[in-house]
Amino acid sequence: MKTAWPFPRVVAHRGGGALGPENTLAAMQCGLAHGFRAVEFDVMLSQDGVPILMHDEQFGRTVAGTGTVPTTNASVLTSMDAGSWFGQAFAGERVPAYRQVVEFCQQHRIWMNVEIKPALGAEQATGTAVAAMTLDMLGAGQAIPLFSSFSFEALMAAKRVAPDIPRGFLVEHIPADWKMKLLELDAVALHVDHKHLTASDAAAIKEAGVGLFCYTVNTVERARELLDWGVDGFCTDRIDLIGPGFA
Ligand code: G3P
Ligand code: MG
Repeated sequence: MKTAWPFPRVVAHRGGGALGPENTLAAMQCGLAHGFRAVEFDVMLSQDGVPILMHDEQFGRTVAGTGTVPTTNASVLTSMDAGSWFGQAFAGERVPAYRQVVEFCQQHRIWMNVEIKPALGAEQATGTAVAAMTLDMLGAGQAIPLFSSFSFEALMAAKRVAPDIPRGFLVEHIPADWKMKLLELDAVALHVDHKHLTASDAAAIKEAGVGLFCYTVNTVERARELLDWGVDGFCTDRIDLIGPGFA
């Protein structure tokens, strides 16, 4: 386990936080326009095993319809409008394939926190596919991304395929066995919902010598408090209020 935090400390959540349609290239452009060169986004597998950017397994919120990601092929998913729900200015913005997003981030030197977001039952397949594609696309001199997931199984699969790409274990509430889980994953960090984090939790996690990352921190006051507690980094929706140099 590492003690230092080698990653950016302030990360744009889902691409462009509250300023763009989540998990799209337009959102990444928003983040970039606000000076962010660190981004978090969610990756799920299509029916035909292609990693694409999406948060929800079910359609209906960011894309129209009643289907699901794991029962739809990538060619259909990547033709869907993921921008109209957010605003007319983004109408026609497509669901991006993970490959496109990696290319975009490499081109603009944007560091990636890749959240592996498996559909139910696709934990191992998603971890394996995302890790394999990332490994395949990682060129010399490029920043090493950080994988994270709420799925222990997905992260274990990513570890088997790409052991040298670091992993963070995502939790909403800190489980009693968090240290054991991090050891099994050989993870560098615990990623915690800041709403359920206390100063003493933060101290215990830092005492264990692992990284501590929080989601999703949307006020300046709370961001300062968390950093004072020793939190190493966080993602935010308020990229307009909390800039990349905040920490
Ligand atoms: O990775 C941090 C955060 O994105 C986890 O929650 O639901 O926004 O993907 P969610
Ligand atoms: Mg996420």
